[in-house]
Amino acid sequence: MIDVVNLRVGDFDTPSPGSIAEPFTVLAELQQQGLIRHLGVSTVTSEQVAEAQSIAPVACVQNFYNIAHRVDDELVDSLAAQGIAYVPYFPLGGFSPLQSDALIAVAARLGATPMAVALAWLLQRSPNILLIPGTSSIVHLRENIAGAALELPEDALAELDAIGAS
Ligand SMILES: NC(=O)c1ccc[n+]([C@@H]2O[C@H](COP(=O)([O-])OP(=O)(O)OC[C@H]3O[C@@H](n4cnc5c(N)ncnc54)[C@H](OP(=O)(O)O)[C@@H]3O)[C@@H](O)[C@H]2O)c1
Repeated sequence: MIDVVNLRVGDFDTPSPGSIAEPFTVLAELQQQGLIRHLGVSTVTSEQVAEAQSIAPVACVQNFYNIAHRVDDELVDSLAAQGIAYVPYFPLGGFSPLQSDALIAVAARLGATPMAVALAWLLQRSPNILLIPGTSSIVHLRENIAGAALELPEDALAELDAIGAS
């Protein structure tokens, strides 16, 4: 049995509205046959999440989200309230790594790196966030893991929150 299968919808990094009932029903049937344990959806609108939930339970949603790209703020909160995992892809900006003076300033104050702070911000953003940062470098991997242990104080959080608002 496969633990979790996501239905990947949408364009490269943006959802395309429209019904996902047909393909999600196929996955739900495979789940009923015992081939898949949990179902998820990726690059979806909140309406598509709701439509999927009317067909079968959704365990996780994987969408484009990071400290500077906050389109899904409301969706993150609504999924948290339902106990559903939110998996932000491009958590470090993906092909355009995050660049922000505020991130650099907060990181310098905390003695951390900007990427570790960006990951710590995601983990503190909501308890349902599961992180999947990508790297091809052992040095970066260590740095990113260090982000998990970093506790951001309130003043740093306020400064970091402003990045997504600009
Ligand atoms: N569902 C979907 O449609 C979808 C779409 C995109 C991605 N994803 C998934 O999301 C996950 C993350 O995506 P991603 O890897 O493309 O994006 P990402 O984690 O936002 O960024 C990876 C980029 O950041 C750099 N990086 C990582 N750690 C760094 C550090 N400490 N300092 C400086 N640069 C650092 C990496 O370069 P180095 O290699 O040099 O460290 C790489 O260029 C992957 O598992 C991917 O499969 C899913």
